[in-house]
Amino acid sequence: MAGFNTKAVHEGQSPEKTTGAVIPPIYQTSTFEQESPAKHKGFEYTRADNPNYKNLEQGLASLEEAKFATVFSSGLGATLASLSLLKMGDHVVAGDDLYGGTYRIFTHWGERFGLKFDFVNTTKAALVEKALRPNTKLIWVETPTNPLLRVSDIRSIVAVAKKKKVPVIVDNTFATSYFQKPLTMGADMVLHSTTKYIGGHSDVIGGVVATNRSDLHDKLKFARKALGVNPSPFDCWLTQRGLKTLGLRMERHQQNAKEIVAFFEKEKKVKKIHYPGFGGMISVEFKLSVVKTKQLISSFKYFTLAESLGGVESLVSHPSSMTHASVPQKERAKIGLSDSLVRFSVGIEDSADLIEDLKSALAKI
Ligand SMILES: Cc1ncc(COP(=O)(O)O)c(C=O)c1O
Repeated sequence: MAGFNTKAVHEGQSPEKTTGAVIPPIYQTSTFEQESPAKHKGFEYTRADNPNYKNLEQGLASLEEAKFATVFSSGLGATLASLSLLKMGDHVVAGDDLYGGTYRIFTHWGERFGLKFDFVNTTKAALVEKALRPNTKLIWVETPTNPLLRVSDIRSIVAVAKKKKVPVIVDNTFATSYFQKPLTMGADMVLHSTTKYIGGHSDVIGGVVATNRSDLHDKLKFARKALGVNPSPFDCWLTQRGLKTLGLRMERHQQNAKEIVAFFEKEKKVKKIHYPGFGGMISVEFKLSVVKTKQLISSFKYFTLAESLGGVESLVSHPSSMTHASVPQKERAKIGLSDSLVRFSVGIEDSADLIEDLKSALAKI
């Protein structure tokens, strides 16, 4: 089997047959000509499918070692499609430290449509097991978590889930398939916000769910068409351009992040560093008031204050007032998400420049 970087460059990227174009074109069309109402060349309408979706899906599936992948309009579009596998009265055991938008879709929409959720610390498989009920139909694991970067043991959760035949979905946005392949550890589905490391350039929004199960794949594809959570052909084309350098970028993000962790370890104004030991995300609690913390994160030269993560450029955010503002204060306090926590998405710039940026901003605070 070809290696990660070879697959990232070549899967779903065969030269186009009619002209020989090395890069497959953007099929910017809403609809496709049919020979008869029942006969077409594989595509009917772009809300249902498009060659650019298929190309990207082939690339993403190969990197996750999955048989199938379905691309969506966003990570949350992928989340909504995954929830549509459930019905009223079904119960979900989910991690208690999730991306705020995932928590919001569960509590704001899921609960209103009759789904039940229990949020537990998935780093302890025994807690997941304890939360299972006869009507539990899905286990939702984000690992590493956003923003506390806690790591769950996917294999232990799968072992618990298999006993009760409950499917496990893993949000692999932070690790990416470069560092972690949940399906090879027994998970049933793997989800990404491709907006982040996969797209990699902060210029596109997208999502994907990959699986080896054809029954789940069929339902997810149906959900894309029926709910209208489809991406645009151009966005898929852009995402696939980003995908080709995923391996190179992840190596560089990680190398820079490790150097920055080493810098923070010696910094007196740092209270606690959250770093899982791999990847490009670091969360740091500072020994600063909330006012000073906000002042600090607005004063960097290269770390741009912005939502999102995983792009080539370094970003910084304040989870409690930005990405996780939709998680109630009480819930944030329960998991230790303090107001002085700052999340860094370390880019691929020169680490010396990034460290100098952090050092001079901290010296002024
Ligand atoms: C871990 C995780 N999952 C899902 C999402 C949602 O993805 P999107 O913003 O593409 O809808 C995000 C977005 O920040 C995320 O960080």
